[in-house]
Amino acid sequence: MSPLLELADLRVRYGHTAALHGVDLTVGQRELVAVAGANGAGKSTLVNAVAGWSRGRAVATGGVRLDGVDVAGLPAHHRTRKGIVLVPEGKGVFEGLTVEENLQLVSPPKGAGGKRYDVSDIYEVFPQLPGRASKKCSTLSGGERQMVAIGRALRAAPRLLILDEPSVGLAPRLVLDVLRHVRELVDGGLSVLLVEQNVKATLEVADRLYLLEQGRVVGSGPVEQMRDDERIVAAYLGGLRA
Ligand SMILES: Nc1ncnc2c1ncn2[C@@H]1O[C@H](COP(=O)(O)OP(=O)(O)O)[C@@H](O)[C@H]1O
Ligand SMILES: [Mg+2]
Repeated sequence: MSPLLELADLRVRYGHTAALHGVDLTVGQRELVAVAGANGAGKSTLVNAVAGWSRGRAVATGGVRLDGVDVAGLPAHHRTRKGIVLVPEGKGVFEGLTVEENLQLVSPPKGAGGKRYDVSDIYEVFPQLPGRASKKCSTLSGGERQMVAIGRALRAAPRLLILDEPSVGLAPRLVLDVLRHVRELVDGGLSVLLVEQNVKATLEVADRLYLLEQGRVVGSGPVEQMRDDERIVAAYLGGLRA
């Protein structure tokens, strides 16, 4: 069986500057795969290239296959229709609209292949949200806002949900809260590609982790193994082994 997502020698340039130097990566069905790396490592560049979003003058080459089918040449909205749904970093909600309006505004594209979520299903996934249904998103906490952003993405019936740094701007105690919800979605059948700088929290919820440095994958493996990786320990776990 081919993986749900398969990247083969993915390269991205901004003008003459290369930002990704040939990345190979897979996400299996019902797998939570994380990409960790410092600021500027190329994480957003990677997920934007998977979703078909071009920021500035990005030029991507290489294979992007969903269920064995090459989607690399497709524009972003066609990829969304095929089930690749990205929640970009720090975005994904309309601040001036209520929680309910934000969720209702999205409907699954025709032929969407993933599980469908009604607004009531989203409220079940995130029990914090029903009590906020009529509140404007601008009044929410960072964690609640991120839940609405993920909820909106679920409304599009994704097969592969991609989250670009959902923990940015969140109070530390909320980070694991949000990531645990993501884990529950995966246990319920979803496949997720998660980009995170909070490696400690990520190691608690992910199945596998890729370490990205300056546009290259320098290590990857199951989280049980990556937890002991020297580079992870030194750069992200405060140099202390658990
Ligand atoms: N639109 C752009 N134009 C030119 N260079 C960019 C652009 N976006 C990102 N870069 C560069 O590409 C590299 C990777 O950036 P990015 O993917 O945003 O990293 P990360 O998400 O890991 O912080 C950085 O060196 C950044 O300066
Ligand atoms: Mg980024």
